[in-house]
Amino acid sequence: MEGKIILKKISKEYCILKVKLTEDMNILPGQFVMLSHPLKKELSKPFSVMDFEDGVLTFFVKIVGKFSKLLSELKENDILNIKGPLGVPYINKIDKNLKYVLVGGGCGAVSLIYFKKIYPNLVENELYGFKNSSIRKIFEHKSLFIDEESGNPLDKLDTILKEKNGIIFCGSKGMQKALLNKYPNKKIYMSLEENMGCGEGMCKGCPVMTTNGVKMVCKDGPLFDSKEVLEWKD
Ligand SMILES: Cc1cc2nc3c(=O)[nH]c(=O)nc-3n(C[C@H](O)[C@H](O)[C@H](O)COP(=O)(O)OP(=O)(O)OC[C@H]3O[C@@H](n4cnc5c(N)ncnc54)[C@H](O)[C@@H]3O)c2cc1C
Ligand code: FES
Repeated sequence: MEGKIILKKISKEYCILKVKLTEDMNILPGQFVMLSHPLKKELSKPFSVMDFEDGVLTFFVKIVGKFSKLLSELKENDILNIKGPLGVPYINKIDKNLKYVLVGGGCGAVSLIYFKKIYPNLVENELYGFKNSSIRKIFEHKSLFIDEESGNPLDKLDTILKEKNGIIFCGSKGMQKALLNKYPNKKIYMSLEENMGCGEGMCKGCPVMTTNGVKMVCKDGPLFDSKEVLEWKD
């Protein structure tokens, strides 16, 4: 389907796009879409949804390479191609008897912010880490944690995490490893980021080895119980 950009905000490293869909969609937290650029429709890449209301999807894009740069250069009224919703909603994969601290690194915060909006009763607290304060130009949140102002976000996590809480994490591989090392006995769900081709389980391009055999991050994830994953990629 298609969507028209109705609002764009941009900082040095990130951009936020609000996109009005031309058709109905029902997308739940943790699901993602494949976006393709209007001039390069053959190439598409996965992006989570930070909000969905009244037919408007909000994307939060980290500008890391060619595709994300092209996205950040789009203007209001430009049309995007959107395939989705894809992936399994977080709610279908987590233990609903626990309350969670949501931990996001950079654009990993995206799906968690939408999760908190839809399931506030499952959330104990939130912690969204960004490297530098330039993010404040386009995005403010009460749980924003800026590394250069406040140090290591995992030290802060120590102070808010309660015995009974689980963790839902989405962020860099480095933070993922640090979290697993620090809390080996906690219930931790990790949203995995893999390069994706089709986004729907066809190309077998996003495998992850689990206790239940080889799974595809796009079709069976992106969220996995950390105890289920056998190989963590660097
Ligand atoms: C399920 C899923 C959901 C995603 N949701 C989002 C989202 O909401 N917002 C978003 O910005 N990205 C998201 N991503 C990542 C996004 O798809 C990639 O950042 C994008 O494909 C990069 O394309 P590119 O051509 O700009 O950069 P590439 O040329 O593909 O990558 C350039 C360099 O950046 C590195 N890189 C790639 N992604 C990241 C990253 N996220 N952070 C730091 N370095 C990175 C690559 O390893 C490479 O070295 C998601 C990925 C998955 C699998
Ligand atoms: S991206 Fe094609 S199988 Fe996952």
